[in-house]
Amino acid sequence: MDSPTYTTRRGEIEHYFDRTAVAAWERLTSDAPVGRIRATVRAGREQMRSTLLSWLPADLHGQRLLDAGCGTGALAVEAARRGAEVVAIDLSPTLVALARERAPRSLGAGSVHFCSGDMLDPALGRFDHVVAMDSVIHYGTEDAVAALSRLAQRTSGSINFTFAPRTPLLAAMISVGRLFPRGDRAPWLNPMAADKLERLRSRDAVLGSWRAGASQRVASGFYTSHAMQWLRPEARA
Ligand SMILES: C[S@@+](CC[C@H](N)C(=O)[O-])C[C@H]1O[C@@H](n2cnc3c(N)ncnc32)[C@H](O)[C@@H]1O
Repeated sequence: MDSPTYTTRRGEIEHYFDRTAVAAWERLTSDAPVGRIRATVRAGREQMRSTLLSWLPADLHGQRLLDAGCGTGALAVEAARRGAEVVAIDLSPTLVALARERAPRSLGAGSVHFCSGDMLDPALGRFDHVVAMDSVIHYGTEDAVAALSRLAQRTSGSINFTFAPRTPLLAAMISVGRLFPRGDRAPWLNPMAADKLERLRSRDAVLGSWRAGASQRVASGFYTSHAMQWLRPEARA
């Protein structure tokens, strides 16, 4: 069951990524020139994508991977190039259409099935690994952990996700963001405290038996995000 706060937030995120921010997001995730600030974000995001990909097995042949909140699909394509059978899902049908358009025709033995909808949909099936790059950052910590817990029930290996760490810079950016009129606001990310995240994980009925694996913060100008890996107890790092 989705919590009311999760459902409300999901609606705001869908509206934001499918309408308000679609053009900006299309540009940010392309090779087109961007301003100085966005260039730092682009560089940080590239570093984050390679960090998360480096935590997955080098050979992904025969493995099912969920790219939860795939955006324009760059991570999904990279994983498929390494042989994975990827399910790439996003709330925004417009971003999913763009991802499909950008994906190369041939990915060797790998494949990407792009679809729009909620990453928690059980109809997506079971996975060896899940990657959620900057997609649970918009939810409250409780809702984010509940979402990861639901994904964990269907995952045999690892969950690799990012959260926005509580930093003074982020706090300042968020308070500036609050000065803008509501309609212009992004569905601001929700900074999380690492110790609260760990406390909620360890108390969760499913994730409680999992263990924390790799952890890496990426900070590049206006981009700060922290990658975490959670592993099923019997899974190898
Ligand atoms: C900041 S973007 C990141 C996109 C992509 N992972 C990347 O790093 O380029 C966050 C994405 O997560 C998606 N998202 C958020 N909640 C979701 C949910 N419950 N199900 C599917 N997608 C979701 C949004 O629609 C948005 O495209």
